[in-house]
Amino acid sequence: MKSFLFIAALPLVSAHIHARAADGIVTPNSFNYTNLGGPLNWYGLNTTANDACAKGTHQSPIDIGTQTVDYAVAGSVNFNVTNVPSAKFENLGSGLEVVITNGSLATNNITYPLAQFHFHTPSEHRVNEEYFPMECHFVFETEAKQIAVVGFLMELSPFGYTTPLFDSVFAHLDDISNAGTYTETGPLDFTGIISHFNKFGVYTYNGSLTTPPCSENVPWFISTEPLWINVQQYRAVKNVLKYNARYTQDTLGQTNLLEVAAKELN
Ligand SMILES: *[C@@H]1O[C@H](CO)[C@@H](O)[C@H](O)[C@H]1NC(C)=O
Ligand SMILES: *[C@@H]1O[C@H](CO)[C@@H](O)[C@H](O)[C@H]1NC(C)=O
Ligand SMILES: *[C@@H]1O[C@H](CO)[C@@H](O)[C@H](O)[C@H]1NC(C)=O
Ligand SMILES: *[C@@H]1O[C@H](CO)[C@@H](O)[C@H](O)[C@H]1NC(C)=O
Ligand SMILES: *[C@@H]1O[C@H](CO)[C@@H](O)[C@H](O)[C@H]1NC(C)=O
Ligand SMILES: *[C@@H]1O[C@H](CO)[C@@H](O)[C@H](O)[C@H]1NC(C)=O
Ligand SMILES: [Zn+2]
Repeated sequence: MKSFLFIAALPLVSAHIHARAADGIVTPNSFNYTNLGGPLNWYGLNTTANDACAKGTHQSPIDIGTQTVDYAVAGSVNFNVTNVPSAKFENLGSGLEVVITNGSLATNNITYPLAQFHFHTPSEHRVNEEYFPMECHFVFETEAKQIAVVGFLMELSPFGYTTPLFDSVFAHLDDISNAGTYTETGPLDFTGIISHFNKFGVYTYNGSLTTPPCSENVPWFISTEPLWINVQQYRAVKNVLKYNARYTQDTLGQTNLLEVAAKELN
């Protein structure tokens, strides 16, 4: 047992010895997932800005029921991201984010430009109550501040498969193990995940941002088929990302869980 643990620890140790420095610093987010910075108190961090976090009735994430959720009509959602040689990859404390605007989401006569994509562990959405080890969100925003999100659940591969795009995103993950730092990704080729998105069904619902200010009126488009991540990559990402999933919100249209709970306390 002892020798197994020793051998298992070696790759992690050597990864840190060879880590490069971060390319620079960014301002980390003030909210987080721990104690008074966490989702139960996001409203308390700023009761004006974060009103919807505690009072919104269409909050994300939700438990997606595959029998009751809507499915996007095939061909009605054009998810398009241009391949780029590299992009800025930030550790915001609250999450790991790739800043890239070369893309768009066109649906319902609205074209939303891409703003960024980022990761959560564990997943925020659940499907028939099951959660997944990770989730990726592509956030799109128009000049008029209309927001839409494309989501992918990520599942552990029993065969060591990964998603090539994410191999390249996480290439220099070791550089940004501290919140408030950034590095560069490797070359980003989106053709694989775009064809994945177009090939499988897509859950859709009208929800919110899952982080402060929890703004509503956000259409979600989540692939019904998870993307692969392998155990080694998952553990490396989890070691940096730690924990950044908001708790499952109330059924769409129902009173916010925080409001219900606060009333019951009183
Ligand atoms: C979480 O956020 C709160 C409020 O900003 C802060 O006081 C606390 O130090 C943060 N905790 C961690 C672990 O980052
Ligand atoms: C709270 O949010 C409001 C509206 O976004 C902003 O004007 C104000 O400066 C914020 N207050 C604090 C203490 O950050
Ligand atoms: C995706 O965007 C690129 C660059 O704007 C454009 O040339 C291409 O036609 C778009 N593809 C689709 C399927 O919309
Ligand atoms: C991506 O967008 C940036 C900012 O608009 C631009 O400078 C860059 O040329 C674009 N890259 C590609 C490959 O389209
Ligand atoms: C998009 O706009 C066209 C032309 O204005 C209209 O005929 C069509 O119904 C609209 N489609 C949707 C989904 O709103
Ligand atoms: C989405 O939900 C918001 C409330 O959060 C509501 O105001 C809006 O009308 C809804 N949009 C659609 C298309 O159902
Ligand atoms: Zn997210």
